[in-house]
Amino acid sequence: DGEVYKYYADGEWKKSASGKSVAIINPTTRKTQYKVQACTQEEVNKVMDLAKSAQKAWAKTPLWKRAELLHKAAALLKEHKVPIAECLVKEIAKPAKDSVTEVVRSGDLISYTAEEGVRILGEGKFLVSDSFPGNERTKYCLTSKVPLGVVLAIPPFNYPVNLAVSKIGPALIAGNSLVLKPPTQGAVSCLHMVHCFHLAGFPKGLINCVTGKGSEIGDFLTMHPGVNCISFTGGDTGISISKKAGMIPLQMELGGKDACIVLEDADLELVASNIIKGGFSYSGQRCTAIKVVLVMESVADALVEKVKEKVAKLKVGPPEENSDITPVVTESSANFIEGLVVDAKEKGATFCQQYKREGNLIWPLLLDNVRPDMRIAWEEPFGPVLPVIRINSVEEGIHHCNASNFGLQGCVFTKDINKAILISDAMETGTVQINSAPARGPDHFPFQGLKDSGIGSQGVTNSINLMVKVKTTVINLP
Ligand code: G3P
Repeated sequence: DGEVYKYYADGEWKKSASGKSVAIINPTTRKTQYKVQACTQEEVNKVMDLAKSAQKAWAKTPLWKRAELLHKAAALLKEHKVPIAECLVKEIAKPAKDSVTEVVRSGDLISYTAEEGVRILGEGKFLVSDSFPGNERTKYCLTSKVPLGVVLAIPPFNYPVNLAVSKIGPALIAGNSLVLKPPTQGAVSCLHMVHCFHLAGFPKGLINCVTGKGSEIGDFLTMHPGVNCISFTGGDTGISISKKAGMIPLQMELGGKDACIVLEDADLELVASNIIKGGFSYSGQRCTAIKVVLVMESVADALVEKVKEKVAKLKVGPPEENSDITPVVTESSANFIEGLVVDAKEKGATFCQQYKREGNLIWPLLLDNVRPDMRIAWEEPFGPVLPVIRINSVEEGIHHCNASNFGLQGCVFTKDINKAILISDAMETGTVQINSAPARGPDHFPFQGLKDSGIGSQGVTNSINLMVKVKTTVINLP
């Protein structure tokens, strides 16, 4: 009970001078599972200085050596998948099997990033001046990609390991140093992941991980003059970060209200299984979860029936038992979800199952006949509650999708590829999946949100390119 996990700076594990800690509540038991250091602003200043000086030397380290260290970290991470996955189970109640998958996927992501980095960073451009009007061939321009400096990485609770390495890998291969601020739920998993980088033998000060209260060090970190790039995944906080941040590149992946548009000719069995996977994996706590089903009235009864049958088969319980539906991350999150359910009830939605909750555990719930005046039609529950809106035309579906302030992903189900392409073009979202549920992966695919869903594009290649600046040298000939 007394042990407090140390934070990581200057290649060492340290106790905070604050003498204070932050408790991590296990979502299943609702008791304190771990404690982490509550770092101070002074400690953040120190870490920023360390990261700044370590970066200078790192930028001069040959690219192949940077890649070699990343491959080492990837292998170590995979080797330690079991203890790290156990932390994920305890901190964020991710089902045991999915927790292991998250760690393995993260190792693969780091290796891929190292490979991609040596290719795209190892090549520049050569331009000559006489292609532009009025110029002779007297100027040769050489371009290369140089690091930005210190990257601040802030991953969310739902993928504390995977969405941390998706920022760390690109930052490091590109020659940047790193300050990582883990989410409270998921902090210990993050610290274990950082330990794999420590074991891999990265230079001191290059990777630092500070833990603590958002209220104490959140704004202080994001507004710190020592930060040269912020990569954030999470909720609304991202919008306020982007308003307060300095003139630095920002990569933000925020919420989503991913729509699933179902046409009359769709394979309803395929749709139903994708709604289960897309709407209820990790209990709906994914930015890319299906968050509203927009189905043509003529096939709505049949689809709802099929989804109902599959919902009944979902295993509800603790993450240790590999249940499909596990407790949501915090009590306040469960209360928020309940608020959306109560609102839908008052406004007359059809409950396909009875609403049931025990602590943070909410049973999967499909709400039929949802109308636009209900909050659940627009807000993201980040829980196992899925609204169905019946539509009378495809245009109605597209209209609902585009009226959202979010624009992360969406999906359309039809056997008519021409219609699918036209609908994809009409949907104002960063990605549209045809005949499958939304998903970020494979992790080298571009991943981006429009509107309030974010700025910048992710995916391995795009992340590397976001974390460098183009530098040119011009040779002037006599
Ligand atoms: O919620 C985070 C977002 O990146 C989702 O990722 O892999 O579940 O589609 P994924």
